[in-house]
Amino acid sequence: MSDNKKVVLTGIKPTGEPHLGNYFGAIKPALELVKDYQARYFIADYHALNGLKDPQLMREYTLSIAAAWLACGLDPAEVIFYRQSQVPEIFELTTFLMAFTAKGLMNRAHAYKAAVDENERGGQNPDHQINMGLFTYPVLMAADILLFDTQLVPVGQDQKQHVEMAADIAQAVNHCYNQSLFVIPQTYIQTEQALVIGLDGRKMSKSYGNIIPLFAPAKQLKKLVNSIVTNSQGVEEKKDPDTCSVFTLYKLFASAQQQGELAREYRAGGMGWGHAKAQLFDVMENALAPLRSKYEELMAKPDEIYQLLDEGRAKIHKIAREKMQILREVVGLAHV
Ligand code: ADP
Ligand code: TRP
Repeated sequence: MSDNKKVVLTGIKPTGEPHLGNYFGAIKPALELVKDYQARYFIADYHALNGLKDPQLMREYTLSIAAAWLACGLDPAEVIFYRQSQVPEIFELTTFLMAFTAKGLMNRAHAYKAAVDENERGGQNPDHQINMGLFTYPVLMAADILLFDTQLVPVGQDQKQHVEMAADIAQAVNHCYNQSLFVIPQTYIQTEQALVIGLDGRKMSKSYGNIIPLFAPAKQLKKLVNSIVTNSQGVEEKKDPDTCSVFTLYKLFASAQQQGELAREYRAGGMGWGHAKAQLFDVMENALAPLRSKYEELMAKPDEIYQLLDEGRAKIHKIAREKMQILREVVGLAHV
């Protein structure tokens, strides 16, 4: 790993089972970047704490997200792989960045606004169940990113605004001290996979209860595929692949040739939804079965996962300490 390479960084919250949206939106693009960048991938566990207060589940999901990364091909020799909560400098930098973050910027964050809107729709006080962790979520995320001089952040479309806020905050600090203390980060979004849809055609998300878990056993996977919502066209009718959830998911797994063939069957008529779903299940099972068996092996050995994360902590901590020392000196919090 050469030090001249630019830094790519991303995090996933341990808030549930990893799903296809996480895989195509974050994990897969991030792993493709490893060869050309210095990669830092982590479990965003303090971000998860805002909404997850069950310690047992926190531990389970932490292991599960870590095992997902490893099963999908993360090599800890190439990637610094760690838990956010184990890097105290991230929280120091969060406090530092608070002083440069306009409250108005936080008011505009989509996740916070969505929570306020929902309260208002439900006739609740706008602040109902909104903690300061949710309100200041983008500042912690900016600290995650800026502490490591990150150039590129592979995430799904929904996280674009957060990365733009990190860039805004970085610029405010750079401007204040008239030097490039922080690298300005950019998102890396693969348009094809920017938004993976779920069983009901909306964005696949844990909060919508429409996910296809990445490691669902074959039987459950088949059941979920069969439950994908389609329109009520009969077998004989000609169908449009471009407006169909089954085909949209098929495109993520099938070769160009397979896509061409199934699209022809759609357009010709005489094809029922059962057939399209069976084709989808086949390509999914083919791609996911090997990942699933690796995941199951890893989940059976949690101590090995914790050990890997501890090794990652040691590596990342050194980088974090050095950067934070520079920042303290620049703002006058340390002797020079
Ligand atoms: P969820 O919406 O299920 O809670 P997370 O917020 O934990 O998912 O997302 C973790 C990562 O996966 C983020 O980079 C996010 O952008 C990406 N991601 C989540 N859902 C999707 C999706 N449906 N399509 C593309 N990327 C997604
Ligand atoms: N907010 C991201 C999500 O909900 C998770 C995250 C936290 C993250 N810190 C990050 C992603 C830093 C990229 C970079 O999915």
